[in-house]
Amino acid sequence: IERTFSIIKPDAVRRNLIGKIIARFEENGLRPIAMKKIHMSRQQAEGFYAVHKDRPFYGELVEQMSASPVVVQVLEGENAILKNREVMGATNPENAAEGTIRKDFALSVGENSVHGSDAPETAAEEIKFFFNDDELVG
Ligand code: GTP
Ligand code: MG
Repeated sequence: IERTFSIIKPDAVRRNLIGKIIARFEENGLRPIAMKKIHMSRQQAEGFYAVHKDRPFYGELVEQMSASPVVVQVLEGENAILKNREVMGATNPENAAEGTIRKDFALSVGENSVHGSDAPETAAEEIKFFFNDDELVG
């Protein structure tokens, strides 16, 4: 059993898609074992996305992620990291497969509704960035 970290991004929260997105996770064997709604500060968003700090879209990404509330979650399941990436679909919704969250809900490559960890090391780091161990209730 594996754990991954997920964010339901501001564009999706604003459009009242929290429930629909969590349903996709549960239908695909990804169980939320921790969740909270937060409004990220600019500094938090900068820190979370520090790996992208030299990319041209960094400023816009930080701006969008701290503009309004998000839902952060830890998802648990078999191959949770890869499974979540499948359920999310490609970064750019124009390239996302049918039936994926980004195909069905994302507005653009920037406002693409969800974030998901891409590897075991980043999953562990990202979970620690937002949750204490005693908040994980698998
Ligand atoms: P995450 O799960 O969010 O990490 O998505 P990803 O792994 O599919 O994408 P990546 O880590 O490469 O980029 C992180 C985030 O930056 C993406 O989810 C997008 O929101 C944003 N992003 C990536 N490329 C672009 C781009 O070309 N333009 C804009 N505006 N945003 C981008
Ligand atoms: Mg990524």
